[in-house]
Amino acid sequence: MSTLLSFRDVWVEYGDRIIIEKLNLDIEEGAFVSIVGPSGAGKSSFLRLILGQEGPSRGVITLDGTALAPECGPDRGVVFQRYSVFPHLTVLRNTVFGLECAKAPVLGRLFGRTRHAAEAEATEMLNAVGLGHSLDLYPAQMSGGMQQRLAIAQALVKRPRVLLLDEPFGALDPGIRADMHALIRRLWREYSLTIVMVTHDIREAFTLGTRVLALDKRRHDPHAPHRYGATVVYDLPMRARPEELSETSDDITIDVIRNN
Ligand SMILES: Nc1ncnc2c1ncn2[C@@H]1O[C@H](COP(=O)(O)OP(=O)(O)OP(=O)(O)O)[C@@H](O)[C@H]1O
Ligand SMILES: [Mg+2]
Repeated sequence: MSTLLSFRDVWVEYGDRIIIEKLNLDIEEGAFVSIVGPSGAGKSSFLRLILGQEGPSRGVITLDGTALAPECGPDRGVVFQRYSVFPHLTVLRNTVFGLECAKAPVLGRLFGRTRHAAEAEATEMLNAVGLGHSLDLYPAQMSGGMQQRLAIAQALVKRPRVLLLDEPFGALDPGIRADMHALIRRLWREYSLTIVMVTHDIREAFTLGTRVLALDKRRHDPHAPHRYGATVVYDLPMRARPEELSETSDDITIDVIRNN
């Protein structure tokens, strides 16, 4: 396995507030990385770095050895906890929209044969996430789980290599969550994705991830909490592959590596 994403001495600062400090990390191609950590630790900021929505204040991030472009590229897709789909567009139009942005950045619309091809690609992806029979529905007509399936299709239709998930299942009922776990695991394998997923659910982090990272501050200054940022304090490779684990498995074995 080769390194896909690499962080070298990466810092994120807002004014005099340090959010992430001295992050050094390599992510292998094909990994499923779960990110856990307290609220405000900088997990979403970390995803924004990978997405290219935000550049590091210091340090270098590379994708396949090349410095990351300071903008969202088609090689990275993202799914947020909720509200990432457009309410005024149908399921099919929502998914085609992703392709229009990638392929017709100026006009924002595709016509004729290109449009036909985009609709075929979108329909294929919607079938893959289980929405093949809901092409003409609007988001308001769908459950939370269906909306997240749509958000996943919207991200994957551009065929990214890296899929970023920011608490994607946090707002869903437990039963639906289990279905979504099975879906994301299948898509991860089928599309040879590298996944970085932020979650507050420790069990979810360990069941899905091939590696679990904990982001937190290593040092605290009670008089100036903004002075120190978070970094990777635990880096836990999972010995078992996720497909060998069941949702209810209690015998997850991990190697704990204190990341100093
Ligand atoms: N654009 C910004 N300008 C200033 N501060 C910001 C900005 N974006 C994030 N922050 C701050 O950075 C810190 C980290 O935020 P972030 O959203 O990355 O945390 P998080 O780990 O995702 O938290 P949560 O678990 O609550 O989602 C927070 O204190 C937040 O207020
Ligand atoms: Mg967050």
